[in-house]
Amino acid sequence: MSKQILNVKNINKEFKVKSTKLFSRPDPVKVLKDISFDLYEGETLSIVGESGCGKTTLGRCIAKGVEATSGEVIYHSDADKQIDYLHMDKQEFKQFRKDIQMIFQDPYSSLSPRMSVYDIITEPLITNFNLSKAEVDKKVSEIAEKTGLNASYLRRYPHAFSGGQRQRIAIARALITQPKIIVCDEAVSALDVSIQAQIINLLIDLQKEFGITYIFISHDLSVVQTISDKVAVMHLGKIVEMADVEEIFNHPKHPYTEALLSAVPIPDPNVEKDRIILDGEVPNPANPPTGCEFHPRCPYKTDKCISERPDLTQTDEENVHLSACHYANELHLKGVKIANEGNE
Ligand SMILES: Nc1ncnc2c1ncn2[C@@H]1O[C@H](COP(=O)(O)OP(=O)(O)OP(=O)(O)O)[C@@H](O)[C@H]1O
Ligand SMILES: [Mg+2]
Repeated sequence: MSKQILNVKNINKEFKVKSTKLFSRPDPVKVLKDISFDLYEGETLSIVGESGCGKTTLGRCIAKGVEATSGEVIYHSDADKQIDYLHMDKQEFKQFRKDIQMIFQDPYSSLSPRMSVYDIITEPLITNFNLSKAEVDKKVSEIAEKTGLNASYLRRYPHAFSGGQRQRIAIARALITQPKIIVCDEAVSALDVSIQAQIINLLIDLQKEFGITYIFISHDLSVVQTISDKVAVMHLGKIVEMADVEEIFNHPKHPYTEALLSAVPIPDPNVEKDRIILDGEVPNPANPPTGCEFHPRCPYKTDKCISERPDLTQTDEENVHLSACHYANELHLKGVKIANEGNE
């Protein structure tokens, strides 16, 4: 079994948003609520859920792009030190910055148009290490080769590249410091399907070669199915289900996951699919429902769901399948059959 690399413990994040009432103070809105999970070296944990459920905010809190309001993120460094970096100041965190990188969704806006590709890729290296020009050049050509970028193009500016190439540039930039963990936030969502497949294969190859751990944020469950070892399903700032990828897809134990899975296309015309349409709107995070926050849209709700909030608990000793549904083991929810082979 591989070693733990990250323990995320009770992360909460509040944003202050302008009140709709005149002269009143900004209201705090809880966007992340008690998020906890463990991450193991070399694995891919995908985070899925509807738009606005807090995926990006969680990724940014972990990569320390925004400050969490409370909680801990314990990083097990190479020297087997355990470091809670969440509350470190920028200067203190600098030594770990190189280990935890982030790749964003939009390769058109996440790369500075005023910097050459060479400067974009080397920036994290120059801020984190004290290397000679020759050493930097050597690292850049190695990374360019690994990520499929032609070294002779490195003096050009991002606008000269296609979407897929830009995402390769973003990956090269993230990789140059040899990070242990990369948070990929919708990293392939803006790309054409064929380019998506190339980038996913690249991420998988790089993971095999360097043992990188990914937190893969995506709303595309077909992609998630290909790349993940584990999946966490988020609803309104909380994890409502978490398990190995086959478990989540084959045997979901939360009605919200079942509804999300019902939208996954199956490339077999003989398989009939009942798509579950969730009635009603996504609840307002500023005024969440009582009890189970999914109950207003849940087809299986009972009075208990309206009054009692279910905790995320283990439902099965062997598979370590967590669900926050009162009826996780009683409902027989429909999954999507996937092969039992992970992303090998
Ligand atoms: N800087 C901010 N100030 C106030 N509210 C914010 C801020 N950033 C995010 N939010 C709110 O936090 C919630 C979660 O946003 P987030 O971007 O994390 O969702 P997401 O799951 O990544 O959505 P998407 O799938 O659309 O990318 C949303 O309700 C959003 O409006
Ligand atoms: Mg997002």
